[in-house]
Amino acid sequence: MRRGKEYYYRIAKEQGYRARSAFKLKQIQAKYKLMKGGDLVIDLGCSPGGWSQVAGEIVGHKGLVLGVDLVQSEPIDGVIFLLGDVTEEGFTDRLTCLLNEKAHKKSKADVVLSDLSPKLVGSYGLDQARSVWLAQHAFRIAREVLRAGGCFVCKVFEGEDYPPFFDEIKSSFQFLKAYVPPATRKKSSEIYLIGKGFKQLIQDPSD
Ligand SMILES: C[S@@+](CC[C@H](N)C(=O)[O-])C[C@H]1O[C@@H](n2cnc3c(N)ncnc32)[C@H](O)[C@@H]1O
Repeated sequence: MRRGKEYYYRIAKEQGYRARSAFKLKQIQAKYKLMKGGDLVIDLGCSPGGWSQVAGEIVGHKGLVLGVDLVQSEPIDGVIFLLGDVTEEGFTDRLTCLLNEKAHKKSKADVVLSDLSPKLVGSYGLDQARSVWLAQHAFRIAREVLRAGGCFVCKVFEGEDYPPFFDEIKSSFQFLKAYVPPATRKKSSEIYLIGKGFKQLIQDPSD
């Protein structure tokens, strides 16, 4: 159904979500059933915390959400925030250490989400390329921290770098689809890639 421009902004306020983007994750979850109670979820590019709120509601008190961003988010019950730059060398090691410390029973995440967005410079080609570059970092991190069979969601801006990225990650999942949730603004070029059934690489000991 077509909604007015400010519809999601208004209901986000009414329902206590920090960002209208919370409804994009709700719609992704309703369609693809990625998260469940007790899951360990990593939310890359989490600030101000709309997706972390939604993920926290789904995983409940037996699960855990670990949110990562360059900028601080206000606290949310059941969510641990890590300040950091996902593109920095050594970031995945920091994340893995935190996982080992906080998620006692699980060493790997069930779901990795990425709503990472670059600071827009207004040149579409550049913004698009930077969004794919961030998505590549999200995928690189997911390869390290996601359990076999786990799920991956990541945002990219549509453009010339997007099809090669889709092809690059396709073979790592049993299922990979592009989806535009209805809460996405009509003029936006955002697409969400939904990966299910992560195929963990078996490391060749001779490598
Ligand atoms: C669209 S916002 C995310 C909104 C969030 N999903 C929500 O529902 O509240 C994108 C976020 O990506 C973060 N970001 C961009 N580049 C990043 C990087 N290199 N490392 C970590 N976070 C980054 C930005 O700081 C910004 O908060």
